[in-house]
Amino acid sequence: MSANQERSFIMVKPDGVERGLVGEIVSRFEKRGFKILALQLIHPSAELLQEHYKDLADKPFFPKLLAYMQSGPVAAFVIQGKGAVKIGRVMLGATNPQDSAPGTIRADFALDIGKNVCHGSDSVESAEREVALWFGDNIKSYSRAVDNVIYE
Ligand code: TYD
Repeated sequence: MSANQERSFIMVKPDGVERGLVGEIVSRFEKRGFKILALQLIHPSAELLQEHYKDLADKPFFPKLLAYMQSGPVAAFVIQGKGAVKIGRVMLGATNPQDSAPGTIRADFALDIGKNVCHGSDSVESAEREVALWFGDNIKSYSRAVDNVIYE
């Protein structure tokens, strides 16, 4: 894959869906220039969430995290473009919204770490794992004329 085809897995968590922030969050990534792939509203199973957050299974907040993530549907999608993983994380802001830089999604829309509105893959390896976990092979890219304007 070329640099312009890097992918990251992004998810609007149940609090974000409940609060009507899906369009706003997707829009920020679209406006930045990323291509949106595989957009879907999902009611995640406990098994899917356990696999997604398996590195956190020993953390004291894990049961609460799982309950929160199952409290309603999530809006899952993939962003594709140059620097998708790193820029995706920057646009989300720090895990704890209290520490998130102004202008980031979490700083603009959240106050508490346990209700931080969105998820984004933290490395290229995690992104590949998460995209495959949530969407399997059911993900296709497409060409966009505007890419000629976005990339030098
Ligand atoms: P983590 O993977 O550390 O952060 P990020 O989502 O920024 O990659 O944690 C996963 C989620 O777990 C995080 O978004 C919110 C929740 N969480 C808590 O509820 N309490 C905590 O102390 C931490 C570190 C995370």
